[in-house]
Amino acid sequence: MGKNIYKPIKCEVIENIKESPTINTIVLKPEEEFSFLAGQFASLSVPGVGEAPFTPSSSPFDKEKLEFTVMRVGRVTEKIHQLKKGDIVGVRGPYGKPYPLEKFKGKEVLLVGGGVGLAPIRALFLALVETYKDYKRIVFCCGARTPQDYIYKDKLFNEWQQLCEKIPLSFRITVDKKDENWKYMEGVVTVTLDNLDMDVKNSVCAVCGPPIMMKFTTLKLLEIGFLPENIYLSMERKMYCGVGHCRHCMIGDLFVCKDGPVFTYEELKDKPEIWV
Ligand SMILES: Cc1cc2nc3c(=O)[nH]c(=O)nc-3n(C[C@H](O)[C@H](O)[C@H](O)COP(=O)(O)OP(=O)(O)OC[C@H]3O[C@@H](n4cnc5c(N)ncnc54)[C@H](O)[C@@H]3O)c2cc1C
Ligand code: FES
Repeated sequence: MGKNIYKPIKCEVIENIKESPTINTIVLKPEEEFSFLAGQFASLSVPGVGEAPFTPSSSPFDKEKLEFTVMRVGRVTEKIHQLKKGDIVGVRGPYGKPYPLEKFKGKEVLLVGGGVGLAPIRALFLALVETYKDYKRIVFCCGARTPQDYIYKDKLFNEWQQLCEKIPLSFRITVDKKDENWKYMEGVVTVTLDNLDMDVKNSVCAVCGPPIMMKFTTLKLLEIGFLPENIYLSMERKMYCGVGHCRHCMIGDLFVCKDGPVFTYEELKDKPEIWV
């Protein structure tokens, strides 16, 4: 019999990492294997509190642990930030459609993540690194408001950059406002798209971040020649059922939970409400 995606899997909290003033990553050990593909999401439940949708930020290839990077905005996320080693939570899913990696094959892949939007992009990035021979090269553009707001600091400023010596990978890193120690770019994330030496008409790009960031990034990508069908946007909407019943997550005639959360700009371009 197939796995029941509506039944939560018990997971033990292994670690709760403070990434930035408002963002934590919780590392979980699932009682049984939880498989997902980059871009899919899961529903994470805290007993006695409630549940909320999140995109795993760990590698889809890591079968031992599961990570979620969570911004504190309300009741459930506040409790997630307070979880301690040994606490038990539930995870059900995965839901939604993943990034269609078969369409990325043989191409240059641009990733653009801003703020907590680096979380879903991290799962995609780790999946691409694992299968890097399938792509011409990977360019990872990252943005945050200040150096302190960056998540995954240890990885981004050390471990991942060391990979650039071994595989066709490069980073473009910026902050809206730098401090005296900052050695990368300054400006909103779209500055990382200036002077891109990519064959943009044949490249694909995945974008995730706050709506305003996704809007201006998409407009810039179109301006520099990316095709609407090659721009992948990871959308977030308030969700209740997560499986296409309650209609809470709809953008026009599309269900974010079922038809997304990953959409091409081609699918969304006639829906102005996507930027709200
Ligand atoms: C497919 C999907 C993937 C997501 N992945 C992540 C992730 O990886 N990391 C992460 O930190 N968050 C992610 N979110 C958003 C996350 O689900 C919400 O922040 C969470 O549900 C808030 O729960 P709460 O009880 O803490 O806040 P609530 O008390 O319910 O709400 C607090 C505030 O947040 C707003 N809000 C609640 N849910 C959403 C939402 N879905 N989108 C936008 N605003 C919302 C409310 O309107 C309110 O203003 C994702 C959402 C979706 C739909
Ligand atoms: S969350 Fe219920 S239909 Fe999408």
